[in-house]
Amino acid sequence: MSVVIRDAEIVTASDIYRADVRVQDERIAAIGEDIRAESGDEIVDGSDRLLIPGGIDPHVHMALPFMGTVSIDDMESGTKAAIMGGTTGLIDFVIPSKGDSLLETLDAWKAKSDGASHDYTFHMAVVDWDERIASEIPRVVHDHGITSFKIFMAYKGTLGVDDEQIFHILEATRDAGAMVNAHAVNGDVQFLLANRFAEEGKTGPPFHALAQPPRAEGEATGRMIDLAAIAGQEVYIVHVTCDDAIERIAAARARGERVWGETCPQYLLLDDSVYDLPGFEGGKYVLSPPLRKKEDQEALWNALRTDQISVVGTDHCAFSFKGQKEMGRDDFRLIPNGLLGIEERMALMYTHGVREGRIDASRWVELCCTNPAKIFGLYPRKGTIAVGGDADLVLWDPAATNTISAKTHHSKCDYNVFEGFETVGAPTRVWVRGELAAEDGKFVGTPGRGRQLKRAPRGVRREPVTA
Ligand code: URP
Ligand code: ZN
Ligand code: ZN
Repeated sequence: MSVVIRDAEIVTASDIYRADVRVQDERIAAIGEDIRAESGDEIVDGSDRLLIPGGIDPHVHMALPFMGTVSIDDMESGTKAAIMGGTTGLIDFVIPSKGDSLLETLDAWKAKSDGASHDYTFHMAVVDWDERIASEIPRVVHDHGITSFKIFMAYKGTLGVDDEQIFHILEATRDAGAMVNAHAVNGDVQFLLANRFAEEGKTGPPFHALAQPPRAEGEATGRMIDLAAIAGQEVYIVHVTCDDAIERIAAARARGERVWGETCPQYLLLDDSVYDLPGFEGGKYVLSPPLRKKEDQEALWNALRTDQISVVGTDHCAFSFKGQKEMGRDDFRLIPNGLLGIEERMALMYTHGVREGRIDASRWVELCCTNPAKIFGLYPRKGTIAVGGDADLVLWDPAATNTISAKTHHSKCDYNVFEGFETVGAPTRVWVRGELAAEDGKFVGTPGRGRQLKRAPRGVRREPVTA
């Protein structure tokens, strides 16, 4: 497997320049002008194309048992959809139920990940606190190379943890050489409001959103940042949706704290008016936190531009309408929360970010590829184009046009929240560790080829290794 990609415009988080790239034995072997091809090299014409690192989606839920069902995409369909959209790495969440062992849950997650077509790693959720969990955290980090842990402040009664538990988790993960991710919405407020609405007979999708006002997200974001600062721990706030949360992250970053924010395409491009769609259509858009107002979209774009928010992930957690979203037709509390996005992210961000002048192409790569790799300890092996790095590469046609549709997407979900969105820019070839995995809209990858990346404890500068 050796390839020379000639004359593409290479886009990294720091540079845009025209050069040749040679790939050999799964890695980038050389970058330069007029590179000499060796016998057996395939030559690919990259002129009129961008060459970018494969996207890294740091927030997905594949085959997640959640709210009485299981998210519809597993590692096989999810990584296929990812590759078709120009993404070649992901981080899935291992989520135990209360009372479960972290290590046993991790074994189950590993077993169901063997259909992946590209590399991946895991975040470990902690949904409870006891001595066993305390003893398992260092083993998760040191034996399994998982250096990020997830805290849910929402989902009271199921996944949610209280402040005392949060503080234990912050200290234990800090001591083990790991960081923390947080779903920051005030779980008590959400629980109380959602139940009150339901008791009053307000059971439709709009009340899902009204039970989680932006201020409840801002409050929890600020509290999480403060608790992390007291514990001396780093924190990454997932799926930020609104100005109330951005303000807290921006203030912490201005103080020099190790705090990062992530948002997702749905919060940049969809708004809460969809919850009022006729019938049960609004149920398709139920996720947590909910979609917000148009003003919040502008605040999010500004935050991406100014580095108050550092990452665009997807929170890909797809549930079909038929048989899954429908479970909550009579009660919004029973609608499985989550949407798709792993296939759509790169093109939506290119179209609405780069083409519409909100961010430049380097920032697009930084937000979708490089920062996720840097923050979560995969860089420089992943997330950039550099000699010695894995040849996870995307040849991107900046002029290709597409219309997003469930008829053509690769997710198993039976609808697409971005249905009808016109995009400009698409991958024409995608390589996964040097092997061609997509070509001109056709998947040619290898399910099962993806490997779990083990990450080094934080603070230690070392390349990730594969399990
Ligand atoms: O609604 C969502 N976001 N579902 C997935 C689980 C989570 O909270 O991230
Ligand atoms: Zn969440
Ligand atoms: Zn999530």
